[in-house]
Amino acid sequence: MTYKNKTAFITGAASGIGYALCEALLAQGAKVMMADINEVGLNEAIEKLGGASAALACVQCDVRNAASVQAAAGKTIETFDRVHIVMNNAGVGLAGRSGRTDLKDWQWIVDINLMGVVHGVEIFTPLIKAHGEGGHILNTASMAGHMTTEYMPPYHATKFAVVGYSESIAQELSQQDIAVTCLCPTWVKSNIGRSGDNRPSASVGQAARKNEHLESAQNSVAALVANGMDADRMANLTLAMMAEGRMHVFNDPEARPVIDIRAKALAADYDAALAWLKAN
Ligand SMILES: NC(=O)c1ccc[n+]([C@@H]2O[C@H](COP(=O)([O-])OP(=O)(O)OC[C@H]3O[C@@H](n4cnc5c(N)ncnc54)[C@H](O)[C@@H]3O)[C@@H](O)[C@H]2O)c1
Repeated sequence: MTYKNKTAFITGAASGIGYALCEALLAQGAKVMMADINEVGLNEAIEKLGGASAALACVQCDVRNAASVQAAAGKTIETFDRVHIVMNNAGVGLAGRSGRTDLKDWQWIVDINLMGVVHGVEIFTPLIKAHGEGGHILNTASMAGHMTTEYMPPYHATKFAVVGYSESIAQELSQQDIAVTCLCPTWVKSNIGRSGDNRPSASVGQAARKNEHLESAQNSVAALVANGMDADRMANLTLAMMAEGRMHVFNDPEARPVIDIRAKALAADYDAALAWLKAN
């Protein structure tokens, strides 16, 4: 696949990985519709990329809201006539151990990280099918969708869900000339370390905001993100892996053994159950 003259729709485009994906796609000759909930950030981002043009436009969009994604899809078709590449990339991080996360915050992260991806796939897939030229869906999960830590159960839950969802739809959509890739990075320089500041429990007053446990976990994540891979390198790697038709995109050599450790642990549990079934 080449990107030249293809049209791409990207969520979470105002910042970090999404912004870098827009820049990399433009450099490879694609047309880009940038979408983000943050209108001010979006306007700054499009100006940084040279401003609106025949190849670049933006639309404010909240991926939690299906009607908002539908309206953004309408604007994409109105502007560029058709869409080939859809990058469901918007996401937020939420640190905090089990039992210490407000249920409103749980709902918030599920609505953005999981339902935001589902809305993008459900609304854009018929538009890709309609022109018959094929296409590619990129869903941003994380390495946190393949391994777990004890520090961010809601984030892991949503990212494991995005990996499973992406692998599932890939089977069906490949028969219709629509490839699916799941982006699974470890730390990449971006603003995600502070995204938890927008969680619902942070807006009900100073007392609720002062959650020291969450603040300290969030500060650790922000420090790791600050030392992560450059977002433009992550974006170029992603486009290269998509062009190869890869299902997953990883970026961290140090996390590679984790895949084997997890596979071995799963196999050991499987074998234990089979041994019990054989003996009983
Ligand atoms: N940076 C990392 O280390 C890292 C690692 C693994 C996965 N990821 C994933 O990468 C994706 C991009 O994150 P990033 O690191 O570039 O963070 P970022 O905070 O720099 O960018 C995320 C963007 O998403 C937007 N957004 C948030 N809620 C939204 C909503 N409801 N609707 C539309 N847009 C919304 C934000 O305004 C922001 O511009 C996320 O899905 C994240 O989980 C990031």
